[in-house]
Amino acid sequence: MKDDNFLKENNARHMWHPMGHPADSLENPPTIIKGADGVHITDLDGHRVVDAVGGLWCVNLGYSNDVVKEAIAKQLYDLPYYSAFAGSTNPTAIEASYAVREFFAEDGMVRSFFTSGGSDSVETTLRLARQYHRLRGEPTRTKFLSLKKGYHGTHFGGASVNGNNRFRINYEPLLPGCYHMPSPYTYRNPFNETDPAKLAQLIAQAMEDEIAFQGANTIAAFIMEPIQGAGGVIVPGETFMPLMREICDRHGILMISDEVITGFGRTGDWTGARHWGVKPDMMSTAKGITSGYFPVGAALMGEKVADVFENDTTGEGAIFHGYTYSAHPVGAAAVTACLSETLRLDTKTNAAARGTQLYEGVLKLAEKHDIIGDVRGGHGLMTGIELVSDKAAKTPMDMPTMKRIHKTAYEAGAMVRLGMHNILMSPPLTITESEVQTILDALDAGFSAA
Ligand SMILES: Cc1ncc(COP(=O)(O)O)c(C=O)c1O
Repeated sequence: MKDDNFLKENNARHMWHPMGHPADSLENPPTIIKGADGVHITDLDGHRVVDAVGGLWCVNLGYSNDVVKEAIAKQLYDLPYYSAFAGSTNPTAIEASYAVREFFAEDGMVRSFFTSGGSDSVETTLRLARQYHRLRGEPTRTKFLSLKKGYHGTHFGGASVNGNNRFRINYEPLLPGCYHMPSPYTYRNPFNETDPAKLAQLIAQAMEDEIAFQGANTIAAFIMEPIQGAGGVIVPGETFMPLMREICDRHGILMISDEVITGFGRTGDWTGARHWGVKPDMMSTAKGITSGYFPVGAALMGEKVADVFENDTTGEGAIFHGYTYSAHPVGAAAVTACLSETLRLDTKTNAAARGTQLYEGVLKLAEKHDIIGDVRGGHGLMTGIELVSDKAAKTPMDMPTMKRIHKTAYEAGAMVRLGMHNILMSPPLTITESEVQTILDALDAGFSAA
């Protein structure tokens, strides 16, 4: 490895960073993270903090899980790669598919299609949803419904069902036939409704209205995150997802639960859909499936979808979709080890307890700091804090202040993530009580510097 001066001189000079302005990265070089242990990260200057971001909502097991590391290292020697395109496979892929099926049995998921990440998984579900309807003799079902504020990755399909315009506008025109319902976001919504159950009903009515307008027989699928993550940790009322499930069922629309963040224990249950008592038709997963140790995702199919493909005798059920790294043997080894560690450590139980601690701690901070407009969480280790410069007018906090809060919190001991004027937190599910307290103290320092 080159020395620190080399790294600083070349930081952001030869690569563009996702989700940032290239000129800004040049002017304000990104923090260089050189090491990690437990739930801590250490930067090039030796500053060590609690990672309240969990890498990027993904390092569920923390950074020191040797079981996963060793599984990856061993597999590199046994078989570093072989194609899983139809006709060949590998032992770890078979094993991982078994582990995934067991893990998601309660959700009714019976088949997996491995990918390299969340955007790939979303794309796979959208494509297979269309194919499912063609196979059933309803080829007019091509449209997609989704929620505003939703984040479904950056491929053209995923971006088209995305509900935040900053991920869309520069890349338009996107896929035709994608329609967005209001988000179950009680702090701001077009109905001015603060009651989660009433808001759920209003969105259900809007959804029914859109389905009637489009014609149910033109709609392939509805995709939603059980808790909207990147959009600001928007937690719906408990009636919301079941209501959406019922509407989809009534109109023959597939329900895709995007579990890229919410899967594998983050909500305090093994999946977000399970958290709300819903069985979707398909799921998109990634992140926690390997705890970020290797880039893997999986699209999951329920029995209803699997049956249609597997009972097809026309040949049209062939899946002409997939990735070079689908069912990658090293990734698959990481999946099996990660799922077994996730179950052994019962990370969902700690996520629920520490998530409540973090949420309640932030609610306390809101009593002290007037800039906190809304606090969202309380369902596992996903917490969002919406900052405003004027509480009555709900004016979004300006970016320079957000950056100052972020920097001060970092100096005080915690890395948090900014999503516009929101602070987003999703620490490893292995975090301890005192480490959560470190995050809360660092946030307190950050807010005091606003
Ligand atoms: C709900 C959801 N879907 C899809 C994605 C895209 O995943 P990836 O960044 O791995 O492509 C993300 C990423 O954060 C996500 O949160």
